[in-house]
Amino acid sequence: MKALAVRPGTPHSLHPREIPPPTLDSIPNGRGVLVKVLQVGLDATDMEINEAQYGNAPAGDDYLVIGHEVFGRVEQVGAHVKHVRPGDYVACTVRRPGKSIYDHIGRSDITSEETYFERGINLLHGFMTEYFVDDAEFVVKYPEKLKHLGVLAEPASVCAKAIQQAYSAQHRLQVWEPQRAWVMGAGQIGLLTTMMLKLRGLDVCTMARTPAEGNLKADIVEQFGARYLSTRETSLADIAARHGRPDLIVEATGNSHVAFQCMNVLNLNGALVLTSVTGGTRVTEIESDRINLEWVLGNKLLLGSVNGNFRHFQEGIAALALGEAMYPGVLERILTHPIQGFENYARLMPLLADANVLKVYVNVAE
Ligand code: BGC
Ligand code: ZN
Repeated sequence: MKALAVRPGTPHSLHPREIPPPTLDSIPNGRGVLVKVLQVGLDATDMEINEAQYGNAPAGDDYLVIGHEVFGRVEQVGAHVKHVRPGDYVACTVRRPGKSIYDHIGRSDITSEETYFERGINLLHGFMTEYFVDDAEFVVKYPEKLKHLGVLAEPASVCAKAIQQAYSAQHRLQVWEPQRAWVMGAGQIGLLTTMMLKLRGLDVCTMARTPAEGNLKADIVEQFGARYLSTRETSLADIAARHGRPDLIVEATGNSHVAFQCMNVLNLNGALVLTSVTGGTRVTEIESDRINLEWVLGNKLLLGSVNGNFRHFQEGIAALALGEAMYPGVLERILTHPIQGFENYARLMPLLADANVLKVYVNVAE
């Protein structure tokens, strides 16, 4: 069957490839699910992988099939699979368990092992194929009524986890009622996080460089009832002085400099959640004495969050459903750049590199 792959370590190596189709019985104990791939989304991680800044091939292979945001339809299930049936629409988690205690309790998203296994990213082949097989444990049912939002399930899981982790960590304060949230970045993670925080009733400012005028991302932010601000026009300090300091910041710009700038503006008792995966080598200067003092005196929390497990996928999908009910038709505006089939693969990376492009995904099958 057809697939798209890269040669990790070799920049710009994305290429089509013929690979053997997967079989149901490659998963033991009748727990296999065979899925026909309908759509696969791409994000900045795929671009970093193609630039050889990130990601590794599975042991014994010199290529990595890409694709970690998948939406598909079940074709066949093993005898012991109960929660999905042929014909069901599904998404699939990305990380697979290692050996730590967290991996054993279904929380590979917080594995304590240095080596992590992620389909389409690190040491495991991904979903940019015609079919895939996986253990039922990782296959998440997706409502047919939301199938037009298919590839948003994976990024939604990442946002759902980041927010859930912040709220759960903030139990340290006994009472935490955040009023104001800032979301840094208006890519898919920034926009979905904006929606989820609005659904929780927060006053949300979403920030990115591009000015608001004629900007689709700004428009979507406003349709979710949040405020869009361009950081090209105003500094974070000025925004904090004008609108108040945020109790929660979710950083999703992909720029580590911004992540550290956020440390200057967080409110007392606040939480700053970092979600950007930055495979580069950037070095940045910060006012460390002042920030350190303010963070100690202000009991502030810095939290890193990556990936989403089965439960976060379910929470993410639930948020997509509520979001679609609250803001009808807005979420699908994120899905800006469909590419028809693997044969147009050469268009993928240039689109991902274009800062004005919001979401690139491949329509693999109907
Ligand atoms: C993916 C996550 C993954 C992370 C780190 C992100 O792009 O969406 O599932 O854990 O990269 O590799
Ligand atoms: Zn991703």
